[in-house]
Amino acid sequence: MKIVYASRMGHVEGIVKRLGITDALKIVDGTEKIDGDYVIFTYNDGQGMIPKIVEDFLAANPGVKAVVGSGSKERHAETFNFATDKIAAKYNVPIIAKLDMDGTEDDLKLIKTKLEEM
Ligand SMILES: Cc1cc2nc3c(=O)[nH]c(=O)nc-3n(C[C@H](O)[C@H](O)[C@H](O)COP(=O)(O)O)c2cc1C
Repeated sequence: MKIVYASRMGHVEGIVKRLGITDALKIVDGTEKIDGDYVIFTYNDGQGMIPKIVEDFLAANPGVKAVVGSGSKERHAETFNFATDKIAAKYNVPIIAKLDMDGTEDDLKLIKTKLEEM
């Protein structure tokens, strides 16, 4: 399964790297293109918004199959990972994980297992 990610401050990028994924596509401005199915990894923007570059990418690339989100429980408890929920609802795809910042080693093990099953 192809992995696509957006990372503004490096947490999501670190998660992708810690998973050992070396060929992931990074969304830089939302105009990127990918053929076929993919899993999207994203951060959450203000008020639990889907980052605009991620919205644009998802709208232009119809193959999304699942979502992994990273948010902040400490700083954004009331909208924790809302963007992840929004992507799952809008594109009717499962949530693989809703991570707090970098996630835990257990979170990463679970993500690895779920990606392997896909
Ligand atoms: C301006 C701003 C707004 C944010 N709003 C939310 C939010 O509403 N909900 C949430 O769960 N996390 C929110 N976060 C936290 C980030 O999604 C979280 O730190 C994430 O790990 C960042 O990933 P990145 O380092 O790959 O960009 C916000 C962060 C920033 C800087």
